[in-house]
Amino acid sequence: MAPDQPGTDRPFAIVPSVLPVDFARLGEECIALEKAGVDRIQWDVMDGRFVPNLTFGPDLVASVRSLVSVPFEAHLMVEEPGWLVPQFVAAGCDTVIVHAESVGHLHRALAAVADAGAKAGVALNPATPPEAVEYVLDLVSMVLVMTVNPGFGGQSYIATMEPKVATIRRWILERGLDVDLEVDGGVGPDTVAGAAAAGANLLVAGSALFRDPLGLDHAVADLRARAEATR
Ligand code: DX5
Repeated sequence: MAPDQPGTDRPFAIVPSVLPVDFARLGEECIALEKAGVDRIQWDVMDGRFVPNLTFGPDLVASVRSLVSVPFEAHLMVEEPGWLVPQFVAAGCDTVIVHAESVGHLHRALAAVADAGAKAGVALNPATPPEAVEYVLDLVSMVLVMTVNPGFGGQSYIATMEPKVATIRRWILERGLDVDLEVDGGVGPDTVAGAAAAGANLLVAGSALFRDPLGLDHAVADLRARAEATR
């Protein structure tokens, strides 16, 4: 592995974004995702302020929680999301991801996620430097490096985020921390290897999973194989 590509020996996880699903059949779609072998499901929560899109609240997540057993993670693309954290935990999310850019006091916000009974995650938009999370790595179970500007699925992967992924992976390794590194946005067959080689082990995909002509099972297995092939 090149020095700028630290990679990772942490298990890879394929994490579908729910954005592309048919919400009229949400329960069936979640069951199909679990059957296809995904490792967890990401709920893209958008408030129309932090990002130019509006999605759903905790009640929708709670409505399908009992249908599948895979862990749920709530990706809060929300201004000042603190008030929502307990609600998504109660809805059945094991992990709650807060954007560094969305809170005035990130250290306090992440501690509050843990106090609410969930694993804490911190997300960085493309323009945000890795230093924004350097002093909170001890508070989180995962760091999410956005590889698109959040708000919509189907966007192009921003490969210039890979050095940021590598930097954070090196920090995690140097400090011996038990922290996963996730990428989200434009992850698919042509981009997943770059993200994995840089050090990401949680791989969020939306459109790439649902547009595979060979179906969901193939899409999940293919992404995982392409990530594993970087080792
Ligand atoms: C933020 C959303 C998207 C989505 C991924 O914009 O969170 O990143 O999940 O969608 P694809 O995989 O289609 O880029």
